[in-house]
Amino acid sequence: MQLYFIFMKKICFATNNEHKIQEVKNIIGNAFQILSLKDVGCSEDLPETGNTLEQNSAQKANYIFKNYHIACFADDSGLEIESLNNKPGVDSAHYAGTRNATDNNNKVLAELADKTNRNAVFKTVITFVSLNSESQFTGIVKGEIINQLPEKEGFGYDPIFIPLGESKTFAEMSIVEKNKISHRSIAINKLIEYLNLREDL
Ligand code: IMP
Repeated sequence: MQLYFIFMKKICFATNNEHKIQEVKNIIGNAFQILSLKDVGCSEDLPETGNTLEQNSAQKANYIFKNYHIACFADDSGLEIESLNNKPGVDSAHYAGTRNATDNNNKVLAELADKTNRNAVFKTVITFVSLNSESQFTGIVKGEIINQLPEKEGFGYDPIFIPLGESKTFAEMSIVEKNKISHRSIAINKLIEYLNLREDL
């Protein structure tokens, strides 16, 4: 078992978000050894000053690679709502001015109160950085925003998002159910395919 770990590819996942870590570990399983920011000695906040998910994702991954010299990937994700001109988008984490998920969900629901078009997409952009290489992988899932905030809490906007063709919100799904269809799992599966071809890591 120990030998198995020695030969596993070690990759840092540049996030402090426990929800993202749980989802990604569930998808990756034992294919790679995922190191946390704490594992690589990083306790500072990662820079996220870009105007797009692509820029922020690249910024976080490059920060870890340059400062901690380990192959790593970062995830930047957001909810884009058609009738709100694709907002909250890159501002998803602090849309209501705080990082409080209930406030963010309530703001979205208030803005959609008089809208019949409730189409939205969740989008994840993963950036992988290693010596002399940088690649991005995108995952998108289409869905709709429900009318009222349910009592059951969940990760970010999961309680108000029903993926297309489903009858449950992401928050009502198990992690395995969400991972079968989610934006994050689509992007992570593309990353896994890419990493499996990288014999130099
Ligand atoms: P960031 O990618 O860490 O900047 O996070 C953006 C914000 O989008 C998070 O704080 C959540 O509010 C939201 N978010 C990202 N991914 C998901 C998801 O899978 N479900 C629900 N909300 C999400």
